[in-house]
Amino acid sequence: MIPILETGLGKLYQGDCLEVMRGVEEASVDLAFADPPFNLGKKYTSNIDDDRASHEYLDWCRAWLDEMMRVLKPGGALFLWNLPKWNLPLGAYLNDRLTFRHWISVDIKYSLPIQKRLYPSHYALLYFIKGDKPTVFHPDRQPVPCCRHCGGELRDYGGYKDKMNPMG
Ligand SMILES: C[S@@+](CC[C@H](N)C(=O)[O-])C[C@H]1O[C@@H](n2cnc3c(N)ncnc32)[C@H](O)[C@@H]1O
Repeated sequence: MIPILETGLGKLYQGDCLEVMRGVEEASVDLAFADPPFNLGKKYTSNIDDDRASHEYLDWCRAWLDEMMRVLKPGGALFLWNLPKWNLPLGAYLNDRLTFRHWISVDIKYSLPIQKRLYPSHYALLYFIKGDKPTVFHPDRQPVPCCRHCGGELRDYGGYKDKMNPMG
């Protein structure tokens, strides 16, 4: 397959993800990230069917997840971005095959009312690794939250302040 873009940073391929990944060597990838269509009936320029029966959508997702898992190196990371509705069954599928690390919830509210349902307030970013230990993991330090008026800390940490890293 010929890349559509090549720079010093790497190569970019455009095509059906299953076909592209089938050409990738087993256990050769450090990180695999999927931002698939969410089966919400959207119109994509690629004209893919985004309105499938649930079982068909999930079968398709499991097919490319299998490929992602195949190409991952031991210690490699797999991220899956989707609605909680789909990441619940897909997370269970991955959980039988990889090691769960985190369900990262991303606050997304469009605040549009939906009849007879609660409004979904987050999207789910699942983080799994192949094997027991991640090869690379550098969590961000979050600054200690402070009042923007007086600069004082917003929490008292229940007497454990001395255990906190001053860098957050
Ligand atoms: C939710 S969008 C992701 C958008 C992307 N993360 C971005 O920021 O541009 C899902 C994308 O998956 C693409 N897609 C759908 N089926 C695909 C397939 N079989 N192989 C590769 N890409 C596919 C769609 O065309 C669409 O661009």
